[in-house]
Amino acid sequence: MILLAPSVLGADFKRLGEQIQSVDRAGADYIHLDVMDGTFVPSISFGMPLIGSVRGCTERIFDVHMMVEEPSRYVDDMKRAGADLICVHAEACRHLDRTIRQIKEAGLMAGAALNPATPPEVLRWVLGELDLVLVMTVNPGFGGQKLIPGMMDKIRALKDMCASLGLSPRIEVDGGITADNVRLALEAGADVIVAGSAVFGGDAAGNVRRFKEIFREFEGEA
Ligand code: DX5
Ligand code: ZN
Repeated sequence: MILLAPSVLGADFKRLGEQIQSVDRAGADYIHLDVMDGTFVPSISFGMPLIGSVRGCTERIFDVHMMVEEPSRYVDDMKRAGADLICVHAEACRHLDRTIRQIKEAGLMAGAALNPATPPEVLRWVLGELDLVLVMTVNPGFGGQKLIPGMMDKIRALKDMCASLGLSPRIEVDGGITADNVRLALEAGADVIVAGSAVFGGDAAGNVRRFKEIFREFEGEA
């Protein structure tokens, strides 16, 4: 089943709780929370206090995308704040395997994210531990950027590597996804779709329903 993960970075923060509830009611599967530290990526977004304060708004999976150097420092704090899935960047972890194990030992789902320039092969020896691989379809750091179309081939290469190893982590795509281009990602093999501006720019509930309808159509054809 294809899942939708609205990124709250695109939401209106003065009514964040309400917006999360509205995408939840419209059928969002995960709530994608982008944590940025101003070092791994240029911008700073939010952290544990905000995540903890909106945790009570929904029971949906909190998918925390850590755009943070050495995220192992925050695994326990993120768990306490309410994360269900922690996704760390391969480029930001000196000991990626250890960090992934730490997330699993905390009882959470573990994901690894790849910047556009990072090849899927860096995950070869940790793939068996991962619940999810996040293929960035923009350079991380900001919402509202344009999708890099070449990343579709990377998703295919990743899917081939997974198949050759007999593994099937979820494949998440993040950055520049809209109702008009999401099919490209679905055809390439993505099954968790992050969308920030394409959900929260305008009628968020209506946009969630539109994405879910596209997913149903695609699954009907498959
Ligand atoms: C970008 C973030 C994304 C961002 C997506 O670094 O990881 O999750 O919020 O926003 P859109 O969908 O607007 O590109
Ligand atoms: Zn993200």
